[in-house]
Amino acid sequence: MTRKILVTSALPYANGAIHLGHLVEYVQTDIWTRFQKMRGHECWYVCADDTHGTPVMLRAEKEGLTPEQLIARVHAEHSRDFAGFHVAFDNYYTTHSDETRHYAEDIFAKLKAAGLIEIRSIEQYYDPAKQMFLPDRFIKGECPKCGAKDQYGDACESCGAAYAPTDLKNPYSAVSGAAPVLKSSDHYFFKLSDPRCQSFLRQWTQDSARLQAEASNKLQEWLGAPGENKLTDWDISRDAPYFGFEIPGAPGKFFYVWLDAPIGYMGSFKNLCARKGLDFDEFWAKGSTAELYHFIGKDILYFHALFWPAELEHAGYRTPTNVFAHGFLTVDGAKMSKSRGTFITAESYLVQGLNPEWLRYYLAAKLNGTMEDIDLNLDDFTQRVNSDLVGKYINIASRAAGFIAKRFGGTLLHTHSSEQFHAELPGIMEAAEEIAGYYEARDTARALRRVMALADQINQYVDKNQPWVLAKSEEHTERLHVVCTLLINAFRLLTLYLKPVLPKLAQRAEEFLNVAPLHWGDAGHLLPPAHLINGYEHLMQRIDPKQIDALIAANRESLEPTVAQSAVSPAPTVAEPHSQQRHAQHQQHTEDIMQPQAISLEPTISIDDFSKVDLRIARIADAQHVEGADKLIRLTLDLGAGNTRNVFAGIKSAYDPAQLVGRLTVMVANLAPRKMKFGLSEGMVLAASDADGKSPGLFLLSPDSGATPGMKVK
Ligand code: MSP
Ligand code: ZN
Repeated sequence: MTRKILVTSALPYANGAIHLGHLVEYVQTDIWTRFQKMRGHECWYVCADDTHGTPVMLRAEKEGLTPEQLIARVHAEHSRDFAGFHVAFDNYYTTHSDETRHYAEDIFAKLKAAGLIEIRSIEQYYDPAKQMFLPDRFIKGECPKCGAKDQYGDACESCGAAYAPTDLKNPYSAVSGAAPVLKSSDHYFFKLSDPRCQSFLRQWTQDSARLQAEASNKLQEWLGAPGENKLTDWDISRDAPYFGFEIPGAPGKFFYVWLDAPIGYMGSFKNLCARKGLDFDEFWAKGSTAELYHFIGKDILYFHALFWPAELEHAGYRTPTNVFAHGFLTVDGAKMSKSRGTFITAESYLVQGLNPEWLRYYLAAKLNGTMEDIDLNLDDFTQRVNSDLVGKYINIASRAAGFIAKRFGGTLLHTHSSEQFHAELPGIMEAAEEIAGYYEARDTARALRRVMALADQINQYVDKNQPWVLAKSEEHTERLHVVCTLLINAFRLLTLYLKPVLPKLAQRAEEFLNVAPLHWGDAGHLLPPAHLINGYEHLMQRIDPKQIDALIAANRESLEPTVAQSAVSPAPTVAEPHSQQRHAQHQQHTEDIMQPQAISLEPTISIDDFSKVDLRIARIADAQHVEGADKLIRLTLDLGAGNTRNVFAGIKSAYDPAQLVGRLTVMVANLAPRKMKFGLSEGMVLAASDADGKSPGLFLLSPDSGATPGMKVK
C-alpha cells in the first residue's frame, strides 16, 4: 500500500549559519525521506527559514539591511549549504510568505472564535532609548545570586541560576546600553490552561504509538499528574517594532515568532501544492489519513508536542502523527566551541574540501531514533569512514571490477542464478526487509551495523575464494567469472541498502553498475545474466587526518570565551517549560554590545600611504617551534602559484603550531626581509591584540571562507 507522508525538519533561524549541529537533523530527516521514496511511498519533505523576531530585526539593522534583504541573503546561504550536504527538500521556503501569513491569521481567528485567546496587560522591561520592549536575552545585568556582571536576563552563565529579568541588579539594555524601565502593554495569550487544551493534550500525548518514550515522559512531567493543571497560558504577541506578521485588528501588535514558525510548515507545503498540483487538505484537514511527521531537536519539544498540536486541534486541523526528537551534537565529547575550532559551519566543511557523505555516514552510524546526544569524535570519524566505507564497502567493487573488465570484457556471467547467489553468499538479499525495518524506525545506527556485517561477510568470501589466485590459471577462468559476478551483485545490494545515507555515492555506483536508480524493491532480484558493467573508477577517497586538522584550524576563532559561547546554541538537556520560551530567544540574540570609549589612534595617513602596503591572503603551509626562541613560531606561508615565504611570527604565546597548519591568514607581502638570529623573515602576518599589547590575547586574522592564497587585501 502506498502511504502518503509529509515530513518536516525544524525551520532554522534566518540569522545564523548552518553548522554541523543542525546537520544532525537535516541529514537524519533526509535519510528517512529518501528511504520512504525508495520504498515507493508518496513522501514530501518541506522546510523553510524561520525569519521573524527581534534578533533578525536587530541583526538586519546592524548590517545596514532591511530584514527582507537579510533573510533573502541567508535563504540563499542556507539553500547552498543544504544542497552541499545532499539534503533534498521538496520545498525550502520562508515563513515570511503570504501562505504562512494566511494560515497564521486563519489559526488565530479560529482559536479566537473558540474562546481560546485572551488579552491581558503585562509589565515588561522597555528600552527607553531604543523605544522597544526587550526580550529576556537583550537585558543584561548582575546576577541576583552570585553578583556576576554582564549576565543575561534569564540565567547566569557563571553560577547557573535561573531567574526573571526583573531580578537582575543594575539591568541595562543590550541594544542601547540604557537602563530599562518597566512598562505595561496588552498581550494576546493562547489559553493552554483551558480544560479543553489540558484534556486534549493528555489524551494526545498518551496515545500509545505516538511519541518516543523519553519524549512521552517529559510531556507527562510538563502536564503534571492527572487533575493537576501545570500548563500556563502562552504569550503569542509582541509589540512593535517587530519583524513579523501584524495581528489583524490589532495595530502595533505582532504574532510572536514561535506562533508563526510551525505554521511555516503549512506555508511551505501550501507553496509546494501550488507547484505540484497537490491537495493541501488531503494532508492537513481534520480526519486526513496522510501521515505527518516533524523531525526536531529535543530543545524544541515543548513547542512541537504541546503548543502546536493544541493549536492545530482547536483550529480544526489534523494533528501530527508523530514528533521525532533527536539529541544534541557534541564534538570530541564537548559542546561545540568557537575557540576550540569545533563550532564547524557547513560551509567551511565543504570549502575545506571534505566529502559531505563522510559526515552523513558518520551521523547515520550514530543516530538510533532516540533523544540521546550524539558525539562527533574526530578520530573515530576518520577511522570509521575509512574502515567501513572505503575498507569494507568500496573495496568489494574494486576487488571484483578489474577482473570483470580485463578478463570478461565487462560482462557478467551468462548463467548466474539467485540459487547460486544464495548458496555462496547467504543472507545478503534476505536482509533487505530487516534493514528496511531499522530505517523505518530511524535506527540508522543499527541499519548500518547490519550492512557492515554483510560487507564483512562478503570480504571474507573474497578472501576465501582468492580471485587473484583464480586469475593465475586458465582452468579457473569460469570460477573467477562466477566469483566476480556474485561479488558485483553483492556490491549492488549493499549500494541499495546504503543509498538513503549515501545518495551521491550510490548514484556513481549505479553508473558503474550500469543500472537505473535503485529502489528498495530491486533488492528482490539480481542483475540480469550477461549484464554489462562500466569501467570502475575509484568511488571514494579516504579521510586524511590532516584534512580534519585543517578544518579545525579554519574554524578556530580566537574570540574571548564569553563572546564565543554566546553564539553557540545552549540546551544540552530538554529545557523546562518555563525557560523554554526564553530559550528560543537565546538562540538568536545578538552577540555584542557597543560601549563607546575614547581610543587613541595613530596619525592620519593618505590612501597612497596605505596602498604601499601589499597585503595578501596566505595559507599557513607549515608551522614549527623555533629552537631557542620563546615567542616565535616559524611559519611557511603559501602565497599561491608555488610561492612560499618564511616568516617568524611572535605568536607562540597564543598558538600551538599544530593548530595553525592549513588555515588562511593575512600577510604583509612586501615588507623588507629581515635577518634574525634564527634565519631570514620574509614578511609579517597580521594579528590583533590590545593597544598596550600587555593584556593576554593575540588574534591572528583570517579571511572569510572563499578567499584563496595570493588574493590581494585592500
Ligand atoms: N527556528 C527554530 C525552530 C522552529 S521550528 C518551527 C530553531 N532553529 S535553530 O536554527 O536553532 O535550530 C534548528 C534545528 O536544529 C532544531 O531542531 C535544533 O534542535 C537543531 N539543532 C541546532 N543545534 C543543534 C545541535 N548542536 N545538535 C543537534 N541539533 C541541533 O530552533
Ligand atoms: Zn550567578
